[in-house]
Amino acid sequence: MKTKLKPYAALISYLFPVFFFGSLLAGNVSSPKDYQAKAFETVSQMNLDEKIGQLLLPTYTLLIPSMDACKAAMAKPKSEASDKQVKEDCGLNQIGKYKIGAVLQDGGPYTGKADIDTWIRLNSLAKEVHQAEVTKDPLLLTGNDAIHGNSHVAGAVIFPHNIGLGVAHDSEMVRSIGELVAKDSLYSGFNWVYMPTVAVAQDIRWGRTYESFSQTPALVKSLAKAYIQGYQQGGAIATVKHFIGDGATNYGIDEGDATFNGSPEEFWQTHGQGYDGALDANVYSMMISYNAINGKRMHFGGPWNSINEFKKKRSFQGFAVSDYNGATRAEYFEKRQRRLPEVFADSIKAGMDMFMVGGGDKMNPFDPASPYYCKNIGDASDALKIAVNEGLITKEQLNNAVVRILSTKFAAVDNMKNYANMKKKDYEALQKKQRAVALKSAEKSLVLLQNKNDLLPLKEKSLKYIVMAGPVDDIGSQNGGWTINWQGQKGDQYFSGANKISSGAATVFDSVKKHFKTAKIINIKEIDTVKNVSPSNTLVVTVVAEPPYAEYMGDIGNTAGVIDPFYVRGALGGENQYMGLPQSTELKLDWLSDETATIERLHKQNIPVITVVYSGRPVVLSHVLQNSDAVIAAFLPGTTGGDAIVNAIVGKYLFRSEGKSNTLTFPWPNTMKEVENRFKDGSLYSIGYGLATKKK
Ligand code: GLC
Repeated sequence: MKTKLKPYAALISYLFPVFFFGSLLAGNVSSPKDYQAKAFETVSQMNLDEKIGQLLLPTYTLLIPSMDACKAAMAKPKSEASDKQVKEDCGLNQIGKYKIGAVLQDGGPYTGKADIDTWIRLNSLAKEVHQAEVTKDPLLLTGNDAIHGNSHVAGAVIFPHNIGLGVAHDSEMVRSIGELVAKDSLYSGFNWVYMPTVAVAQDIRWGRTYESFSQTPALVKSLAKAYIQGYQQGGAIATVKHFIGDGATNYGIDEGDATFNGSPEEFWQTHGQGYDGALDANVYSMMISYNAINGKRMHFGGPWNSINEFKKKRSFQGFAVSDYNGATRAEYFEKRQRRLPEVFADSIKAGMDMFMVGGGDKMNPFDPASPYYCKNIGDASDALKIAVNEGLITKEQLNNAVVRILSTKFAAVDNMKNYANMKKKDYEALQKKQRAVALKSAEKSLVLLQNKNDLLPLKEKSLKYIVMAGPVDDIGSQNGGWTINWQGQKGDQYFSGANKISSGAATVFDSVKKHFKTAKIINIKEIDTVKNVSPSNTLVVTVVAEPPYAEYMGDIGNTAGVIDPFYVRGALGGENQYMGLPQSTELKLDWLSDETATIERLHKQNIPVITVVYSGRPVVLSHVLQNSDAVIAAFLPGTTGGDAIVNAIVGKYLFRSEGKSNTLTFPWPNTMKEVENRFKDGSLYSIGYGLATKKK
């Protein structure tokens, strides 16, 4: 007997460290695989309604029958009565009626306010209903797009968007950001973050380029792994997205089609590396992409049955969630009009486990009677039930989806148990830590494109005047999209007063005023009110910025490939109907027309000009480069951006002082032609470019 054990003992002694360190490598989070038996057991006790409820992910907006009534109920002081009113008027009781296991916070502060107490209250009341009425379900998933900080909460610390984190080239820093934001999310009642995007954006006209770390797959892989490790080590559930090929579409059209003549393996070498990184971090969930590959929509598996392949061949243990109305939108883009049950069934067969359902999204915007329009969560629940009763979704497919969701929930409950009960004083300490890390990451996310006569770091001489031009005092421009509101917004409405302090918000104007205490700050339009400006006593600081945008509202110039006017308004130069702001129609930034002549004149007088660029991607800057001495690409640095930029200008932070930080992860164009040719004919600056500064 003894001898028999010998080989097993040897095997165990070998395997134990593999599994032990393997789990540490995977970010030492509990794995859904370990809870499958428990999940199967639970599913065997569930009725059809309870199983269908697990497949639903309604937005809070869809659940709310009347926004005004919900806001009114939320506005009343907390009491047993007002809680009861909120559960009714904000539609939370539907969580019990439809046995719902997940909700998502979409869009903006529809409950009237975006402060943290509002979200804490809404999420905790939702969980109360869930606990009382969806008793076999171990966890109500409360999801939101905390993609660069807990970014739906007024006063939250906002970190650089992914494009800036790519420029920082620091995976340990990204991991720590993930952990900090996860804890912030949990404190606000959200346990599931739809982050990170691991797109490898090919065409920078794409409105979501700023959500891509880089065009270098290996960098995307390492940062994806780090961010997910951080989020899940912080107790939250991460979501690798959008599977697969969101950054590969023709013309960079958001939700468009990617023509690809190679093999699935070749496609994976560019667009799949972030998913390999996510698997290394034991990612709990994945979100499926709107786009098509060679005309076949990913919500129906794409041309290569990719979702099921990812689950089986690469043994992904978590669950796959659709994007917002993704299955019905796929049906619309594939120009079919099957019944909702058939659409859901086709997606389940392709490997989908959960359907994100939002209201007000007429799938066929030109046909309000569209059959795809889910007026309420009951429509989706009924359609799934019909699909099961008609055998379009088999019992096995249904059970497999529920087992994946439940095993992930059991693992997540175990993983978050150490983080779920933060106290307010701990939260303040967490925000302080976030401000410090955000500043560091913002500094490392800057790229010095030009530095004529080594202007930077600026000699700290007695400056008399600092002339400022452009949106130098707009926190909205430096945060970009996905900040409080889906599209973001200009101005500091959510980052002023106490929210300015908690978020560490500082515009370039704030930081210039703070640092250059003796200089007089002058708006460029008042330049003629001051006499004897000269190169030795005056500095010009300007900002050029893209307006905030998200998704297709940031698409540029793809009218050649317009798939649907509804989804490419950004490209058509229309107004961003979500925020009433003019949308860019070209990938070019310049000064405002009534400021540019003065800037050129001062530059000609050898008065030093520093220009800061806030953009979600590289942009054509020729006129700005000609008429500036130093040009800093800041991308979308978040709330601490102003302080980071001034630290870099005065040399408190030196460009390229740490590893590969401050270097481009996308080529930078000289002309739009280069952009349209995807830089096949070269670029102004290539990947890896970035000037250094040295202590003077
Ligand atoms: C959006 C985005 C996705 C986001 C989801 C929920 O349409 O494509 O990235 O997580 O909906 O807001």
